[in-house]
Amino acid sequence: MSARSTHSCTARAHSNIALIKYWGKRDDRLKLPAVGSISMTLDALYTDTRVSFFPGAEHDSVDIGGRKVDPAPFTAFLDRVRARAGIDYRARVESWNNFPTGAGLASSASGFAALALAASRAAGLEANPRALSILARQGSGSAARSIFGGLVEMHRGTRDDGQDAFAEPIANSADWPLEVIVAITERAPKTVNSSVGMSGLAERSDYYDAWVLHAEDDLAAMREAIGGRDFEALGALAEMSCLKLHGLMLSTRPGLLYWNPATVAAMQAVRALRSEGVPVYFTIDAGPQVKAICEPEHAATVEQALAAVPGVLDTRRSALGPAAYVLD
Ligand code: DP6
Repeated sequence: MSARSTHSCTARAHSNIALIKYWGKRDDRLKLPAVGSISMTLDALYTDTRVSFFPGAEHDSVDIGGRKVDPAPFTAFLDRVRARAGIDYRARVESWNNFPTGAGLASSASGFAALALAASRAAGLEANPRALSILARQGSGSAARSIFGGLVEMHRGTRDDGQDAFAEPIANSADWPLEVIVAITERAPKTVNSSVGMSGLAERSDYYDAWVLHAEDDLAAMREAIGGRDFEALGALAEMSCLKLHGLMLSTRPGLLYWNPATVAAMQAVRALRSEGVPVYFTIDAGPQVKAICEPEHAATVEQALAAVPGVLDTRRSALGPAAYVLD
């Protein structure tokens, strides 16, 4: 990273959903993942974040969606940027999501990716995408993937300093124009966030070793499905990784159950569509929302079917989104 002189920057980063899931850390402080992951960046869901460094200000301040939040977790993140840039200015951070925050729509992924880019630029750092991915990861593991567009792979890495734990793009929307229909079944923030849910997992779940042991095979199979543009293989692997993750969550002490009745109904609706010949598969993160993955020609049918599921409050349709970028 080299120094440039600006004090303010607004950046946009898109949310992502994992097809092969990340869950569990090999290092909590640096947020080093215990397993690699593969995700899709979503065009329709994004965070805009403005960071302004103020010489003379005493504290960082952070607003999300116009409401003040505790700046402590963000101060730790901004300290990394300040240390690299050699500045000591406090920051004003303003962030807006165009979707519900903290409800299983990956707001921490788009949020920390946008913050990494905006803060780096505002601090005068010319960060390359890999350095930004490493930085974003230290805010939230899944944020490392939202630096990139399209289909993205996050490397687990083996180094203690985390310099090999970053994401890389593997295909873009022109290569393979996939779509996702998000079925929103709850707008309130979830009660157990991902970091808390996955902390100390090795001691809290008897399934953890099996989860880590088979992760590389799942990643290899997904890489092959993407390389061969094999939609059925991609979808089946994504659904399997989702159900395996939720099995792991259920097995955790205390058990984590992120679904509500509408979540299950939407999963069943996806499988019913499939039995009628519509190629569509679901995935679900640490929340109650269901994301149905399909190719563009089936997206309208899938959206209509999910919108009709009792308990589905809203649907959002998304193509693959771009990499994080600067807005001003
Ligand atoms: C279920 O990235 O939110 O969405 O690294 O602790 O911030 P932290 O967790 P986070 O976890 C995401 C978990 C997941 C699966 C995934 O996105 O791969």
